[in-house]
Amino acid sequence: MDTYDTILKRRSIRKFTKKPIPRPLIDKMLNAARLSPTGMNMQPLKFYAIIDSNLLDKIFPYTKYAGYMPNGECSPSIEEGPTAIVLILNDLSIRKSDDTAAGAAAMSMILTAQNEGVSSCWMMAIDKNNICNICDIDQKKLSLHSLISFGYPAMTSRAEPMNYNMGVKYYFDEEGTLCVPKRHFEDVCKII
Ligand SMILES: Cc1cc2nc3c(=O)[nH]c(=O)nc-3n(C[C@H](O)[C@H](O)[C@H](O)COP(=O)(O)O)c2cc1C
Repeated sequence: MDTYDTILKRRSIRKFTKKPIPRPLIDKMLNAARLSPTGMNMQPLKFYAIIDSNLLDKIFPYTKYAGYMPNGECSPSIEEGPTAIVLILNDLSIRKSDDTAAGAAAMSMILTAQNEGVSSCWMMAIDKNNICNICDIDQKKLSLHSLISFGYPAMTSRAEPMNYNMGVKYYFDEEGTLCVPKRHFEDVCKII
């Protein structure tokens, strides 16, 4: 798929089917992250993919989906949870933190997956301590920046022009599609 089409098609998806992600695609996502830009080419990040279903189930309670819908409407049940999670980790021996590098790597993985029909939700509302313990990560050496949940979609979502009276909160339409309000082009973009 054309890169621009892939970018437009991407929405955060929070409910997934059980269909496993092919292993070659997991490798491609990680490789895309590895080759992403970093300030001064420091490459301070590590990327750990979790595909073991027992580990995924253990991590699940420590992830919080769709904070704008506190009644859980948009949150997966454990059966609808991701079939892969990638942890984005700062290697403390290289650099304490690098949000921009993490952002670039995250989008590389998300778009590589999206291009092959695999959806995602980038997540920071996570219990880092418990997740590191579950994954046997030595937090003196590696600090968890964020994680990305991946899987084939079991829900639909689309971008909508923002109604400024309504604000930024996403909502469901009558058909059950998640609508994500986006600010209008002319309010956000300028060519000078
Ligand atoms: C840095 C970052 C952290 C996020 N953390 C969470 C999270 O913890 N839980 C969640 O459900 N969504 C999370 N999201 C997804 C956002 O809610 C989502 O990107 C936003 O609502 C816009 O929707 P869209 O991705 O479909 O365009 C996060 C997104 C980003 C970029």
